[in-house]
Amino acid sequence: MAQNVRIAVVGSGYVGLVAAVCFAEIGHSVVCVDNDERKVKALQGGDTLIHENHLPELLGKYRNGRVTFTTDLGEATKNSDVIFVAVGTPQSETGDADLSYVEAVAAEIARSINGYKVIVEKSTVPVYTNEWIRRVIERNGVDKHLFDVVSNPEFLREGTAVEDFLHPDRIVVGSDSPRAAELLRAIYAPLTEGAYYKQEGHITGICNTEELPPILLTSTKSAEIIKHASNAFLALKISFINAVANICEEADANVEQVAKGMGLDARIGPRFLRPGIGYGGSCFPKDVSAFRSVAEQMGLGFNLLAEVERINEQQKKRFIAKVRSTLWTLRGKKLAVLGLAFKGDTDDIRESPAIDLVQTLLAEGCSVAAFDPAAMGRAKLELPEGPNCKYVCDPYEAANDADALLILTDWAEFGQLDLARLNKSMRYSIIVDGRNMYEPEAMAEAGFHYTSVGRPSAHPAH
Ligand code: UDX
Repeated sequence: MAQNVRIAVVGSGYVGLVAAVCFAEIGHSVVCVDNDERKVKALQGGDTLIHENHLPELLGKYRNGRVTFTTDLGEATKNSDVIFVAVGTPQSETGDADLSYVEAVAAEIARSINGYKVIVEKSTVPVYTNEWIRRVIERNGVDKHLFDVVSNPEFLREGTAVEDFLHPDRIVVGSDSPRAAELLRAIYAPLTEGAYYKQEGHITGICNTEELPPILLTSTKSAEIIKHASNAFLALKISFINAVANICEEADANVEQVAKGMGLDARIGPRFLRPGIGYGGSCFPKDVSAFRSVAEQMGLGFNLLAEVERINEQQKKRFIAKVRSTLWTLRGKKLAVLGLAFKGDTDDIRESPAIDLVQTLLAEGCSVAAFDPAAMGRAKLELPEGPNCKYVCDPYEAANDADALLILTDWAEFGQLDLARLNKSMRYSIIVDGRNMYEPEAMAEAGFHYTSVGRPSAHPAH
């Protein structure tokens, strides 16, 4: 394949690990660095530590071959030409991004620079971060001609991260240096020029060479803003449809029909118009807040984003209100909870609305039997098992003797339940579906009182 570039990826979280194995998959040599020795050992042993499609396969294929793992950032820097920084940028108490990990990594890279290096921001960072990284490296005595800082944001979604990496809608490279931009172009050439998709048996099996991913070259600052603006816009779309769903509920209309009608307009598009219990995850809540903070620090109000956040919080309260109105009182009620992850196909519970909702229901005096296909291990750390909070092996055990069943995560299997079996095991045939996994009429026919989001409730005929 194309030119092999020596790459270091700093941080082995979702973004770092997926990027590391995918860079190997398109032909590069990668060293992945993490300061957590336990993590490095696990990865060396082939344990991905996170639930992500295709990741075990790729890690198995390349670990200790084209991808190695280490805690030694200095050595990794010396042996690489391009260093991707994919460490966490968590939300600080003031709402903006905490960049202390990025700063520490930049300082450590500076101490080991032994030739021209390109340092790439892969983590989501606010505009101007590239300038700070540059300043930190220069302050550590490195000549400014010995390095460039580039922004190459990642748009992967958890659950489909590997596919998103290898089949991106676009690749954004923000660089103020032609030399650095050329190196990044070479790294992605197997995707943008299509050689990767012609390879026998490549991982996702998608061989569409007709529509190759475009590479967009921008200034560094524009690329930083593209990432924040994209995530904020997607969150806005979700809050918008949730607000519309609430109007539909009051008007006895059907938000699925409304979303379909809106989405057929090419200017709006059908995606990210699924109503629910609000967005969660490790990106949207923190990025919306950080982007708003960026605007505020510039003296520019961005109240639209404050409203996006308010609607998102309100959506959880509205769901609790629905549960209350179907059950009358909450104290002492036994609830089956399906789903704890912030969305389907992941074990991630960071900022999961499902966890928030269960916490509220427990505080209201309910008892909960919860099931999630992948996230129960992580959920137990946030919601410890106890007399009122049980974790069970499948949806039917959760439903056993329950006063109501709540669907909180859009795992595909929650849309394919054996309804007759479920109905038999429940005390009352009540389902409150926060993810619109079923058609209301079909649920009424199956004998359920069914409440969902933005659609009329349905009740059994008899
Ligand atoms: C997101 C972005 O999609 C990705 O581009 C970025 O790099 C990281 O953040 P992710 O957090 O993995 O990815 O999940 P995503 O699929 O975008 O869903 C985020 C949240 O929004 C979830 O809680 C999901 O349930 C919710 N959502 C999504 C909706 O409620 N409705 C929708 O229509 C879409």
